[in-house]
Amino acid sequence: MSHQQEAIAPHGGKLVNRIATPEQRAEFLSKADFLPRVQLDARAVSDLEMIAIGGFSPLTGFMNQEDYDRVVTQMRLANGVVWSIPITLSVTPQVASPLPEGGLIRLDNPKGEFIGVLELTQKYEYDKNREAVNVYRTDDAKHPGVQVLYNQGAIHLAGDIWLLQRDSHPQFPAYQIDPAASRQMFQAKGWKTIVGFQTRNPIHRAHEYIQKCALETVDGLFLHPLVGATKEDDIPADVRMRCYEILLENYYPLDRVILAINPAAMRYAGPREAIFHALVRKNYGCTHFIVGRDHAGVGDYYGTYDAQYIFDEFDPSELGIVPMKFEHAFYCLRTKQMGTTKSSPSKPEERVHLSGTKVREMLRRGELPPPEFSRPEVAAELARAIQLSVG
Ligand code: ADX
Repeated sequence: MSHQQEAIAPHGGKLVNRIATPEQRAEFLSKADFLPRVQLDARAVSDLEMIAIGGFSPLTGFMNQEDYDRVVTQMRLANGVVWSIPITLSVTPQVASPLPEGGLIRLDNPKGEFIGVLELTQKYEYDKNREAVNVYRTDDAKHPGVQVLYNQGAIHLAGDIWLLQRDSHPQFPAYQIDPAASRQMFQAKGWKTIVGFQTRNPIHRAHEYIQKCALETVDGLFLHPLVGATKEDDIPADVRMRCYEILLENYYPLDRVILAINPAAMRYAGPREAIFHALVRKNYGCTHFIVGRDHAGVGDYYGTYDAQYIFDEFDPSELGIVPMKFEHAFYCLRTKQMGTTKSSPSKPEERVHLSGTKVREMLRRGELPPPEFSRPEVAAELARAIQLSVG
C-alpha cells in the first residue's frame, strides 16, 4: 500500500487538459488559412486558457444549451455536477450565421493571432435578462458583470476547444502555475490541507489576517490573485502582484505559502462567483477556500455574507472543497490587533476599516493609508504606482 497522500479529486473527477499536442498543433496550423475565424475578447481568451489548463474541469469547451440552461437556472451542469457560472462564447448573429455546425473554427486573440480551435457543435440564442437575474441577481446594466453580458453577442457558440498558443503572462512567468503543477507542488511539500485565497484587490491587513487565521489550521496557503480582466477602476494586476511580493518577503513564512496567478476574468457575480471560485481552486488542488465579506461583490448588489450563505445550498460532498468563512475583519484600536466582531470587544468607532474606493481616493490625493489598514511597504508601492499612472 502506498503511503502517498491522495490529492483532492478535481471537480467532476478528472483534471482536463485541452492544450494541443505538438502533432495537433502542427495539424491545426496547416489548416489555419482555411478555417473560419472568430476573434475572442479578453474574457474569452481567459476562459479558453482556463478550460485548457483544467482550471474549469470538468468543462472541455464552451457550454452547450443544455449545460447553459441548467447552470443558469439550477447551478448545475446537465449531468448534475455543481457549476454556478456560465462559460460561454458569444458572437453576433452576423458572425455566427456562416459558421458551420460540426466544423472546426479558428479562434484568434484580440491581436489577430491564432490561439485556439473550437469544434463547433451548436449555435444557440439565449435570454440575457434571465441570465442577469439568475446569475447576477440584478438586471441593472450598471452592474459590471451585467454590463458585459448586455454588450456581448446574442448567439452562443458551443463545443470542445484546444489551446494552441498561450498568453505567456510576461509580467509574472514565475507565478504561472497550472493546476497540474500546483497539485505536484502541494504533494512535494507534503501538504495535505491547503487553503486557497481569491483576490482582485491590493492586499491589505484584513486579507492578511484572514489568510493567517486560516493558515493556523491547515498545512499551506495558496495565494491566487486573479489577473484576467477586471473593471476599469480596479488596481492593475502587475501592481497587485508587486504588493504581494513585497508583503511575502516581509511578513509571511515563505515555506508555507505559494503565490500563483489565476488567469480568469472577474464576473462580480458575488455569491455565485464564490462557488465558482471555490471549484476552480479545488481544481488547483486546494482542500479549503476562504470566503470573507462580500466575496466577489461590487457596489451594494449583494448582502455582506450572501457569498457564504450560498454554500449551504449544496451538500458539502458535491462541492468537495471546504469554505472557510470569515466575518468582516478590521484593526481594533482597543486591543491593538486585527479582529472581527467575533473576537474583538471594540465599539464601531474603535475599528479601522477603509473601503477600496476610499483607499484609491487617498492614494490619488497622494495620501498613504494608515499602517492599521495597510502594511507601510505595500502602501508605499501602491502610492508609487498610482502617482505614476496619474502622471
Ligand atoms: S474579491 O472580489 O476577490 O472577493 P477582494 O480581493 O477584496 O475581492 O477579497 C478577497 C477575499 O478577501 C474575499 O474572500 C473577500 O470576501 C475577503 N475580504 C476582503 N476584505 C475583507 C475584510 N475586511 N474582512 C473579511 N474578509 C475580507
